Amino acid sequence: MTTSVHSDITTRLEWLNLQAHFPDVATGHLRGYFDGDPARGGDLTVTAGDLFIDYSLNRIDRRTLRLLTELASAVGIEEYRDRMLDGAPVNTTENRAVLHTALRLPPEMELLVDGRSVVPDVHRVLGRMGDFTDRLRNGQWRGATGQRITTVVNIGIGGSDLGPRMACQALRNFTHPDIRVKFVSNVDPADLLGTLDGIDPATTLFIVASKTFTTIETLTNATAARSWITAQLGDQAVPQHFVAVSTNAVEVAKFGIDPTNMFEFWDWVGGRYSISSAIGLPVMVAIGREAFGEFLSGMHTIDRHFAEAPLEANAPVILGLLGFWYSNFFGAETRAVLPYANDLARFPAYLQQLAMESNGKAVQTNGEPVDTSTSAIWWGEPGTNGQHAFYQLLHQGTRLVPTDFIGFAEPAEDLLTIDGDGSMHDILISNLLAQRRVLAFGRTSDEITAHGVPTDLVPHKVMPGNRPSTTILAPKLTPNTLGQMIALYEHQVFTEGALTNINSFDQWGVELGKEQALQLHSVVSGRTSAAGLDSSTASIVEWYQSTRPD
Ligand code: F6P
Repeated sequence: MTTSVHSDITTRLEWLNLQAHFPDVATGHLRGYFDGDPARGGDLTVTAGDLFIDYSLNRIDRRTLRLLTELASAVGIEEYRDRMLDGAPVNTTENRAVLHTALRLPPEMELLVDGRSVVPDVHRVLGRMGDFTDRLRNGQWRGATGQRITTVVNIGIGGSDLGPRMACQALRNFTHPDIRVKFVSNVDPADLLGTLDGIDPATTLFIVASKTFTTIETLTNATAARSWITAQLGDQAVPQHFVAVSTNAVEVAKFGIDPTNMFEFWDWVGGRYSISSAIGLPVMVAIGREAFGEFLSGMHTIDRHFAEAPLEANAPVILGLLGFWYSNFFGAETRAVLPYANDLARFPAYLQQLAMESNGKAVQTNGEPVDTSTSAIWWGEPGTNGQHAFYQLLHQGTRLVPTDFIGFAEPAEDLLTIDGDGSMHDILISNLLAQRRVLAFGRTSDEITAHGVPTDLVPHKVMPGNRPSTTILAPKLTPNTLGQMIALYEHQVFTEGALTNINSFDQWGVELGKEQALQLHSVVSGRTSAAGLDSSTASIVEWYQSTRPD
């Protein structure tokens, strides 16, 4: 294993400086910061590509960010970043490079892994994906009965589902008018059956997406889908109705998919970082090869910003430092992402895997227990829906929930307001502005009393404020800006992982569950006995077997 990023962060002078500084900030209020520093709002912002990020409503003063960047610098975050970008095996427990950024490099660039540039391979696969999607979109690719494909179903789970699913929904306005792209992930048969309901096998193509091609959910769903196709169109229909995306050509061939219909990627692409690889195929089907190129180019814009901007002006680094600050100094347990864009409804779910599978660890790269708090619990829903559900807790609850607001200047489409002379999008953005403002500045008892509120009601109406948020804005939700936002969060997650000195690129924690599910399947289905199981599991197995219909 290669060396760790750093260790003992909590004994460093830079950490101690932050500790000494923290009480000042903990007792400060955002109202006071803004009153005492009128330029704060315009100054505490950063631009990366087309993204304009306002972090002025965070619980920091002007000194905090300097102290945080000093800490990041002291632990060697820039060197670690460069090693990752150069293809060093920073995924130490699997001895792998971590090169999702190579998937977005322009063809003229070079990046050597084991003495060979990976860029030509990346563009060869992108070219094959482009040729395939062109044929699908222009109707040259036909199903077994000679009909055009009008439904594409991606079967995959985790990183082989969440990114493409999120992006296809986010880019709804850029999609091909005659091809629907659907997603099946859950091994609950309701998912596959609900998706296949009402669609025609003759006009349906499946993408079986699995990095390993051994994931039980995906292979089970793919096998059921194959039976659905062959029952109606015959075995010979499989090549026209199935393609695969994987790193594992052997297993793809075993499954019965022609390797010429397989789009490959490489073990240096982590599942949750794979949307810019061939795992993005459903997105390319939906939006076309040029727009997918725009998506990759958006990511590359932020990759370059991450690689080149000084830490104090580096957007993903700043956001990662803030995440680390809240987890480790304020003890914040969760972090909300609230897109004011309905088309980004799945973005929080996508970020959950990105952040929590990456940084939900308790052991440092050197095998020692962490001495810091690692990833927060990420969650979220689009605004304005969440305002009428859980924002009450954000405003007046006892927990501190740092929040990201996401918004766009131009909507994909707009409609007139109820009075017929305004924009619905303006209402949406006004809500975003109102929420971040109320969270930050609240309303004091004096202000409430001045409104003539009866004394006994005043404490109920006090809005404490001082609730931190960051606002991420882009001109419009397009393939390019979506790519920028994804890369922004990828590198932010990297920053938090590097500060806590964990390996953000493995996921051993999910393996044992997979292993035990396989063992328990044989017990649940009655092929092996429940002997030796713990008494709770054994009693549930007994209840299940006696309760389910034969
Ligand atoms: O849930 C664990 C995991 O390994 C994720 O990291 C991954 O994205 C997902 O399973 C799916 O894996 P695969 O693409 O190999 O089917």
